Amino acid sequence: MAFTKFILPALALTSTVLAQTSTDICAGPSITIASSADAEQIADCTNYKGDVTIDSSASGTLQLNGVRQISGDLLCNNATQLTAITSDQLNTIGGSFSLTGLTILSTLSFDSLTGINKINWVGLPALQALNFAQSVDRANTVLISNTQLNNIEGIDLTAVSSLDINNNPYLTSVNVNSLKNVTTAISFSANGRDLEILFPNLENAANLTFRNVSKVDMPSLNTVGGSMGFYSNSFETFSAPNLTQTGGTLAFVDSPNLANLSFPSLTQIGGGFLIANNTDLKAIGGFGKLKTIVGALDFAGTFDSVDLVITEVRGGSNVQTTSTNQTICQLFDKAHDAGVIRGINTCITGKANPESNPTSTSGGSATSSTSKPDAGNALAPAMSMAGLVGAVAALLFI
Ligand SMILES: *[C@@H]1O[C@H](CO)[C@@H](O)[C@H](O)[C@H]1NC(C)=O
Ligand SMILES: *[C@@H]1O[C@H](CO)[C@@H](O)[C@H](O)[C@H]1NC(C)=O
Ligand SMILES: *[C@@H]1O[C@H](CO)[C@@H](O)[C@H](O)[C@H]1NC(C)=O
Ligand SMILES: *[C@@H]1O[C@H](CO)[C@@H](O)[C@H](O)[C@H]1NC(C)=O
Ligand SMILES: *[C@@H]1O[C@H](CO)[C@@H](O)[C@H](O)[C@H]1NC(C)=O
Ligand SMILES: *[C@@H]1O[C@H](CO)[C@@H](O)[C@H](O)[C@H]1NC(C)=O
Ligand SMILES: *[C@@H]1O[C@H](CO)[C@@H](O)[C@H](O)[C@H]1NC(C)=O
Ligand SMILES: *[C@@H]1O[C@H](CO)[C@@H](O)[C@H](O)[C@H]1NC(C)=O
Repeated sequence: MAFTKFILPALALTSTVLAQTSTDICAGPSITIASSADAEQIADCTNYKGDVTIDSSASGTLQLNGVRQISGDLLCNNATQLTAITSDQLNTIGGSFSLTGLTILSTLSFDSLTGINKINWVGLPALQALNFAQSVDRANTVLISNTQLNNIEGIDLTAVSSLDINNNPYLTSVNVNSLKNVTTAISFSANGRDLEILFPNLENAANLTFRNVSKVDMPSLNTVGGSMGFYSNSFETFSAPNLTQTGGTLAFVDSPNLANLSFPSLTQIGGGFLIANNTDLKAIGGFGKLKTIVGALDFAGTFDSVDLVITEVRGGSNVQTTSTNQTICQLFDKAHDAGVIRGINTCITGKANPESNPTSTSGGSATSSTSKPDAGNALAPAMSMAGLVGAVAALLFI
């Protein structure tokens, strides 16, 4: 048949050309697509070795089907008419998955995606949920900012270098069950007012910063290599039952409802120890095993008592409270005299506006005692507290 004769060579030719083309295309280094039809060019690629950019003119739904790996970036910036990005087989993005300024994007649906080097999602104000059937379990850095996400279900990492989640006003729940290690930092700020964060299995973290959250639960946390800071949170209690040490500063600041801290296993704070402006925190305590503060101690607030058994503060101390309980300053002065506090000790009770780490110590309305560091203290740290520990601890911070 003439018809068959005609059509067969044509098909054969077409598939040869396609195979040829797709081999070339799969080698990258980059492709820009504006539609699902454009995306078909890389549908046969097991691994697209380059960057895929979704053009800002893309609109409606863009299907990125077939391709399994993108070794470079998957980028889409300012496609303000794009509502959905979907993919059936893509499982790995070797570079950044960067989505920015996608004002009406409401659907991110990836059936097979499990590994992303960098997640960078910024300015996705219509995105309420992720639809990642397999859950992303590997990512080095994650930045999620200015989205409408309620949670981050679909991201369940076992380890991450940095996780920064900020300005997602509808985010109320984060539970990353698999997360065990954080090698650089976790930071949350300015998300939903009622954000509750749960990292049930997190054991080792580098830096941890939580701002504007209503709950943080990390029952397994054992070691914080860097600093751990809590700012402007609404929770009433915070407990780190298994935390043994921090490598940097531990801070609780500006949390008006905070009334109880519990760090029963903490023995050393590797930086400063800052507690400031937590108006409901009337008793500073809950640090039954804390012995060493490598940096300075800085407490400012309305607390009526300080119960610690610290044996070594290598920096100075600043303690200012509205309370008129003079015993507090007696204890700190004694601690300083005994060499437990090595730097300058400033302690003021009855202070109308307690200041943290002030540049000068003027303006105290009640007892004020400022001591100078012992000249002799420049000697060996080794001779420090050894002989004093027992007596001083007992005397001092009861
Ligand atoms: C996206 O749009 C914003 C504001 O219109 C502009 O500042 C930015 O440079 C654009 N980004 C890209 C990658 O085109
Ligand atoms: C987590 O960190 C510990 C100690 O640093 C290390 O032994 C372990 O291999 C890490 N686990 C993962 C999943 O990175
Ligand atoms: C904590 O973050 C700082 C940068 O803010 C970084 O230099 C440091 O290495 C981090 N700490 C750890 C233990 O990763
Ligand atoms: C978060 O806390 C900061 C202070 O640490 C405050 O300035 C900011 O207004 C708060 N943001 C929200 C969204 O609550
Ligand atoms: C706390 O630490 C103890 C002793 O290392 C361990 O047995 C326990 O499982 C830890 N608790 C949690 C919740 O990880
Ligand atoms: C503080 O919290 C700890 C642990 O959650 C608890 O055991 C303790 O009773 C609480 N203390 C106060 C004064 O509420
Ligand atoms: C505590 O509040 C006072 C007054 O608002 C402010 O000047 C000071 O910087 C705050 N301290 C900290 C550590 O945020
Ligand atoms: C005064 O402070 C000391 C030391 O923290 C504490 O033991 C005592 O209970 C406090 N007194 C009052 C009335 O709070």
